[in-house]
Amino acid sequence: MGNKRFSEEVLAQLEKLEEKYDAMGQDLSAYLDGLLHSDYLTYWDYIQIDTLLSLQSPRTSFPDEKIFILYHQITELYFKLILNEQEQLILSDETPDREVFLKRINRMNRYFAHLVDSFDVMIEGMDPEQFLNFRMSLLPASGFQSGQFRIIEIGCTDFHLLADINKKEEMASSDSIKEIYDNLYWKQGATELATGKKTLTLRQFEHKYSDEFIQRAEGVKETNLRRLYFKHFEGDAEIIEALRNLDYQANVQWPLMHYKSAVRYLQKDPGVIKATGGTNWQKYLPPRRQQVSYYPELWTAEEIANWGTREKL
Ligand code: HEM
Repeated sequence: MGNKRFSEEVLAQLEKLEEKYDAMGQDLSAYLDGLLHSDYLTYWDYIQIDTLLSLQSPRTSFPDEKIFILYHQITELYFKLILNEQEQLILSDETPDREVFLKRINRMNRYFAHLVDSFDVMIEGMDPEQFLNFRMSLLPASGFQSGQFRIIEIGCTDFHLLADINKKEEMASSDSIKEIYDNLYWKQGATELATGKKTLTLRQFEHKYSDEFIQRAEGVKETNLRRLYFKHFEGDAEIIEALRNLDYQANVQWPLMHYKSAVRYLQKDPGVIKATGGTNWQKYLPPRRQQVSYYPELWTAEEIANWGTREKL
């Protein structure tokens, strides 16, 4: 070419670019013009820092309310990381590769471990006086209404295993996702203490998310993590270990840490200090009550009998 200004490497890249744009009927030169005029990327634009830091809008002037909002947001971002791994497995049409399956479950476990470990930000990190004041301005909103939390559960296991403890056996033989949905454990928990009716918190939650939850449950009937385990990896010791870890973190360790926060702030006088979502939280939140387990076959009878009573595996 006789052009000494560009290295062979750059010329080869230009040729590849031309092939790329030609294939789509596009003019490379126009795109190069665009490149010439575009600004350098900055950290703050790429990470969208200004937007991110503008998403905290306390309802009161108690400074600790910001901690409460931020920690919920941090948790939701971790939930998103967990879903990012889970969905690559359960929404794929391809047979999962063993190493990839293991890697993704272990990544989910790492994220859960961070959530379990950091939950003391809630337990120890707020002034109880302030909490009891600002929470009254948040009624009837509750972390109970976290849609991502439920979507994670749905992807981890067969739907009937999320049924209320008294309905689990009956729901195991149901092939109606809708019927199982009406009997999920968290529906039974969210009833008004006094009247036994669905709480407003639950009704609003259902209104927003029911369609999405049912659609996801239908969509992963054959490809949720439990199905994938039984279809492709049954008996694989390393995968069993990873799934047990996931089950324990999601259904015992995180719920126990979370329960501790309710005890710290709401325990003093249960008659006076009601839960924001109106649940009978002492009966509902301890993991030994509902005994939710995604993979009951991977535990001994004794381990299941003691479900939710030990912090460590
Ligand atoms: C001081 C901190 C917290 C307290 C006192 C607390 C209290 C409660 C209570 C009483 C419930 C039962 C439902 C209700 O009546 O509202 C609940 C449910 C729930 N909260 Fe929290 N919570 C706290 C922090 C969090 C955080 C940071 C998250 C993260 C997203 C969260 C997520 C949830 C979820 C997912 C449920 C439903 C649990 C289930 O169905 O098993 N909570 N919380």
